[in-house]
Parts: sequence; C-alpha cells; structure tokens
Amino acid sequence: MTDQELVEKAFTMLEKAYVPYSRFPVGAALEGADGAVYTGCNVENSAFGSCICAERTALVKAVSEGCRSFRRLAVVGNSTDYCWPCGSCRQMLYEFAPDLEVLVANKDHQFVKYTLRQLLPCGFGPEAMG
Ligand code: THU
Repeated sequence: MTDQELVEKAFTMLEKAYVPYSRFPVGAALEGADGAVYTGCNVENSAFGSCICAERTALVKAVSEGCRSFRRLAVVGNSTDYCWPCGSCRQMLYEFAPDLEVLVANKDHQFVKYTLRQLLPCGFGPEAMG
C-alpha cells in the first residue's frame, strides 16, 4: 500500500467519528508489521476527559487483536493545517513503535511524513525503565 493509500484509508474514518462536542472529526489508519491495517476515529464523551483520539482508537484496536509492532500511521482531519497527533497519542504510540513513520494530512489530502522519534524526541519508553 502506498503512503497516499494509507492516508485515504484514514479519510474513510472521518464519517465514523463521534464528535458532537468539538465537531472536529479525525481519522487514523495504523499499519502493523504484517501489513494489516487498523483504523480508528475519535470518540467523544459528555465527560470531556473520557474522549479518545483517532490514533489511540486504532492503537488499542490493534493491540487488543494481538498486534504490537507497527510500520506506518496516517492521521487526517478536515483542517487547513496538518492534523498533528496530540502528545498523549505520540506517547502511547512510542511504547510500541518509536521508529513509526507518521503521515499527517490536511483537508486537501496532502500529507507530510515524520518519524515518531522526530515528533517525540527523547521519548520515555520501555527501555527507559531498565
Ligand atoms: N483529536 C484526535 O483524534 N487526535 C489527535 O491527535 C488530536 C485531537 C481529537 C480529539 C477531539 O475529539 C478532537 O480531535 C478535538 O480535539
């Protein structure tokens, strides 16, 4: 799958987002080491602190299905700016895939590509607990 195809898979998730409070849908597509793709959307809650982001939805879907290593992630939104993953998502992803490639798209389906280590320098991960 090309990078653009993974981005488009993330875009299909925007319609699934449950966003009555922010009205800001986010979609994610997380590719496992074996090529399987786990999608996610943000799911908000009237208790605002209980909202979950699209990337974390995809991650917990994957881990709960037994997948723990990942190659690429696409994160997309309907915004002019690129839909950057939040700090909590960067941290959650770093646990499993510090070398993850992260594709971050804007509403025009254009994307930029970073590694998770670039987005979360000097991250705290399992090796830090040794
Ligand atoms: N959001 C995500 O889904 N991923 C991010 O990394 C950034 C923020 C969601 C959370 C909330 O539902 C909405 O975007 C506005 O913050």
